[in-house]
Amino acid sequence: MIQDLFNLSGRVALVTGGSKGIGKAIARGFAEAGADVAIASRHEGELKQAAAEIGSGLNVRVEYRVVDMTVRSEVQQLADWAGQTLGKVDILVNNAGSNQPQLLKDTTEEVWDRILELNFTSCMLISRALIPGMMERKWGRILQLSSVMGLASNPGRGLYSGTKAALIGMTRAHALELGPYGITVNCLAPGPVATDLPMNLLSPEQKQRFAERTAVKRWGQPVDMVGPALMLCSEAGAFITGYVLLADGGLLCRTFD
Ligand SMILES: NC(=O)c1ccc[n+]([C@@H]2O[C@H](COP(=O)([O-])OP(=O)(O)OC[C@H]3O[C@@H](n4cnc5c(N)ncnc54)[C@H](OP(=O)(O)O)[C@@H]3O)[C@@H](O)[C@H]2O)c1
Repeated sequence: MIQDLFNLSGRVALVTGGSKGIGKAIARGFAEAGADVAIASRHEGELKQAAAEIGSGLNVRVEYRVVDMTVRSEVQQLADWAGQTLGKVDILVNNAGSNQPQLLKDTTEEVWDRILELNFTSCMLISRALIPGMMERKWGRILQLSSVMGLASNPGRGLYSGTKAALIGMTRAHALELGPYGITVNCLAPGPVATDLPMNLLSPEQKQRFAERTAVKRWGQPVDMVGPALMLCSEAGAFITGYVLLADGGLLCRTFD
């Protein structure tokens, strides 16, 4: 049956940063597809509320853990906890991420190290911790939240773009390493999606410009990321690996106006 391609019953997914925005939407989508789900971020109140929403009306387990992905010991503890609490992790969505724009001349090493650790290094660390189980079971899915900013950029976005481009390079290497074990590794590269992250950073004029630059003339919503993520993390995506799926409303179709 065609639905079986997208069915996640019996699978366990860990979505980092699943307390809001894109991660929460993907976690809910995976739960609706039948997966047990774990989410992790820094604020317990938001996690608790999100876990209730993700599991609402569904017969799946939803667990959460407070974690700061910039603290390496906590990343390892998250992997151990997820395996112990839900039995295994089949699907890892490296979604937790942030952006603190700085021009090159003003770049501080504190911000550089923190965003690099969160957006890039933590994705390697949690992947490394979880692949032994996936390799043993000969099935796994790793999805990195890259960005259109990994393929193009703007002034002040050197660090953010650098981390999102780095995820693309790492994804290709890991896809080659893990393919023989039935594990796919892909990037989802969203365009502008209306979440706290861009909404807190951009001016009203910038928000309008972003929407105008897309082909579909609107901001994406977190739910727009669910279908692409589900395809890449289910049987439907079994032959897709090392790939960068743009979900940007056509933003990068355009050359200069
Ligand atoms: N929205 C967009 O337009 C867009 C476009 C392209 C790519 N992306 C990428 O998509 C991903 C999700 O973004 P979003 O827009 O959904 O952002 P968001 O609404 O701000 O959500 C970010 C999530 O990451 C968590 N997080 C942040 N810092 C963390 C840390 N140090 N440790 C653990 N968790 C942390 C946040 O929770 P706490 O703050 O409570 O920890 C939250 O759950 C990011 O990787 C982002 O770069 C977004």
